[in-house]
Amino acid sequence: MSVTKQTVLETLRSIKGPDFEGDIVSLGLVSEIFVADGKVFFSITVPAERAQQLEPLRAAAERAVKAMPGVTGAVVALTAERKGGGMERAPAPRPAAQPQRSAPAPQGAPAGRQPGKREVPGIGAIIAVASGKGGVGKSTTAVNLALALKAAGKRVGLLDADIYGPSMPRLLGISGKPETIDGKILKPMEKYGLKVMSIGFLVEEETPMIWRGPMVVSALTQMLREVAWGELDILVVDMPPGTGDAQLTMAQQVPLAGAVIVSTPQDLALIDARKGLNMFRRVDVPVLGIVENMSYFIAPDTGKRYDIFGHGGAEAEAGRLGVPFLGAVPLEMAIRETSDAGTPVVASDPQGAHAEKYRAIAEAALAGLSAETPSAPDIVYD
Ligand SMILES: Nc1ncnc2c1ncn2[C@@H]1O[C@H](COP(=O)(O)OP(=O)(O)OP(=O)(O)O)[C@@H](O)[C@H]1O
Ligand SMILES: [Mg+2]
Repeated sequence: MSVTKQTVLETLRSIKGPDFEGDIVSLGLVSEIFVADGKVFFSITVPAERAQQLEPLRAAAERAVKAMPGVTGAVVALTAERKGGGMERAPAPRPAAQPQRSAPAPQGAPAGRQPGKREVPGIGAIIAVASGKGGVGKSTTAVNLALALKAAGKRVGLLDADIYGPSMPRLLGISGKPETIDGKILKPMEKYGLKVMSIGFLVEEETPMIWRGPMVVSALTQMLREVAWGELDILVVDMPPGTGDAQLTMAQQVPLAGAVIVSTPQDLALIDARKGLNMFRRVDVPVLGIVENMSYFIAPDTGKRYDIFGHGGAEAEAGRLGVPFLGAVPLEMAIRETSDAGTPVVASDPQGAHAEKYRAIAEAALAGLSAETPSAPDIVYD
């Protein structure tokens, strides 16, 4: 049976609405449905304040579609209700026309170097790739950004700080365990010219979460400081999702020179991106900019462009928040499939259009970094 919009709609009629009344199709909550190559994409509209509570609804819809014969994958996103055509927004946490910090940097402290944080010897700059929300493509962005920085001639390391759901072993197709030097310091793994460390190299995937919990911060510190990174220009850190205490602690533990925020264009993801941004501002880490991932979709058969997830949202949000917009990456099967295969697109197709996008993002991030870490006079913001 071939998958069509109609058959997908029929299947979605089995999914009850938010309050168990009607179904999501009759309630008019389902966006345009796009089907390509057995893969299905659409979004479901929900009230912004109920997004978290309605995650099971999204998951149920995705499961139902994935179970259809002929469907090989599905991307289902929640999006917030639009009122009067505008974007529904959470109360703005702060008016932010200019890049600003919650606390002025102390006199004489260069931007991006927080006092009291120990630098990591040999590493020029550490940048975090973060988001408020899970599944928006942080790890995908982190790995391709690292490869693009490498292509720009930098010496690059990649630290997977996602203790709960490490992805670098899979994204880079690395197996095996790191060697130790003198039984103490770990040698990072290497792939595509990157030095890589991940908790995934050290503990089995089945290791219970409760056991990993308490070791989160110490594991991170160890992966940062007890690894023979050697001389690096840049260490890219793939952060775990969220803006809770654990993430805040990480942002404080690591001497970050800057942060790159990844968001999808949907308004709900943007609310979370804003939380992520505020978290870094709170700990005085400069935000280098926002990347809009899964920005738009190019149909592989017709080359036609679809803006099913609301392309442009992140760029507008970056403008509102006064941070640079680093670039947009389309929702593209090649990006997903190369990641799953351990051959990220910047390494496997360095001349391709996607690699070019990531290189432009890398250039923009580097420009932000050199503006934030001037080698000559100190810039004092207040
Ligand atoms: N631009 C893209 N086009 C197509 N698929 C993408 C794109 N970016 C990411 N993906 C896919 O989306 C999924 C989530 O991406 P990824 O793991 O990078 O997100 P994440 O934000 O790191 O998630 P988590 O919060 O779980 O750490 C993956 O299957 C990935 O291959
Ligand atoms: Mg991840």
